Amino acid sequence: MIVIVDSSNSDTNSVAHTQTNSLRYKDDAVVVSPINHLRGELRVPGDKSISHRAAMLGAIAQGDSVLQNFSSARDCAATLECFRALGVNIVRDGSTVMVHGEGPSGLHQPQHVLDAQNSGTTMRLLAGILAGQPFATTITGDDSLLSRPMLRVADPLRLMGAQVEVEANGCAPLRIRGRRPLQPIHYRLPIASAQIKSAVLLAGLAADGTTTVEELSQTRDHTERMLQGFGAQVERNGDALALHGGVTLHSCSLMIPGDVSSAAFFIGAAVALPGSDLLIRDVGLNPTRTAFLSTLSRMGADIQIEDERQEAGEPIGSLRIRNSALNGLATSLEVSGPTISNLIDELPLLGFIAASLGWEMKLRDAKELRVKESDRIAATVDNLLRMGARIEEQPDGWHLYRGGKLHGAQLSSFGDHRIAMASAVAALAADGPSEIAGAFNSVAVSLPEFWSLLESVAE
Ligand code: S3P
Repeated sequence: MIVIVDSSNSDTNSVAHTQTNSLRYKDDAVVVSPINHLRGELRVPGDKSISHRAAMLGAIAQGDSVLQNFSSARDCAATLECFRALGVNIVRDGSTVMVHGEGPSGLHQPQHVLDAQNSGTTMRLLAGILAGQPFATTITGDDSLLSRPMLRVADPLRLMGAQVEVEANGCAPLRIRGRRPLQPIHYRLPIASAQIKSAVLLAGLAADGTTTVEELSQTRDHTERMLQGFGAQVERNGDALALHGGVTLHSCSLMIPGDVSSAAFFIGAAVALPGSDLLIRDVGLNPTRTAFLSTLSRMGADIQIEDERQEAGEPIGSLRIRNSALNGLATSLEVSGPTISNLIDELPLLGFIAASLGWEMKLRDAKELRVKESDRIAATVDNLLRMGARIEEQPDGWHLYRGGKLHGAQLSSFGDHRIAMASAVAALAADGPSEIAGAFNSVAVSLPEFWSLLESVAE
């Protein structure tokens, strides 16, 4: 649910970085100074969620898949490394990735533990695939990933007949002994999670029958769209998805749309900075990912879609954002309910934008944010308090009160790429410089080009 009330007017990396007036790099910290506006054009790299899935389906399909505009995210490189360790021949040339799949039996027991690094999507979706492989594997990750809940993926895979062990605290490393065929199940997801839905569907490929997954509320649907592109049969019936197992996927070549969750940081900055005029080309506009855009539009932001079309079974278009003088509107934004899963990765950013514009924001039903790469409720509240915002932390969200301009402050990335970038957006619109500890390298998890793209449009 999105409720907007009272909006009346009242008062890596291989990326080269130069020191600019607005961005200065100090080891792993970045000093972000206020700027006037964003102007110009940019393109963001390919979508991270879609890139993971394309690599995974290519790896278990029969034949050569060519994936263009593959994400530059470190998370997606972790997925490629895991599949190489499973014996898949993968050749990368910049943003083009060629995956030579040898069908459902083409994976081989790896020589070592698989490392998903910081990537929850790698660990959970890969677990779904490995559940249907007749060998044992272990998947580990970095400290952040090793503290995230994994019983949510172990439970349905165990019901399907795989052995999945987690640590006593319910976290990874995951030790999986797979089996083929798996048992088809009907699974009602206890939480809204695209990663868990996808893990069950991917395991369902190795089941002898029809696996159904029922969603609590609709999450991003890239897996089901792409499965169809690779030749699987998936049907949606209301909240339930049915997948027919035992089908050999065929290879598929794709042009991956730009990542709307990466574009969001530039959109947010353009909305927050008066006089901005920005064009972001070829961004994925899947309706399960665009609640951030519709929320800002409903709040009065001027976001136009141009050149809308389909690419890789996904809607795509260019976004033109013009600042629409939203600062100082006596506006209150309430975000809760099923819409949460369609802007889950943009919620911290929305908090930073709302605070930059002086708006009130009430966020509820978002306790999943506590188990992302960091506790994103605590991290957002902590950085906004440091910038002088009045905000109260709640178990499943926050209450941000109306306020004035944010102050430059000492901030932290909390080791989380999205917190680093969202904090930088707020820092651009603050009244003085902010230093964000640990921000320089952390962005590489999803967008290594963040700082250089920002430099290219900051004025
Ligand atoms: C993702 C799903 C989301 C999101 C994550 C990527 C995916 O997590 O937060 O960044 O690619 O499936 P959930 O599993 O909580 O939906």
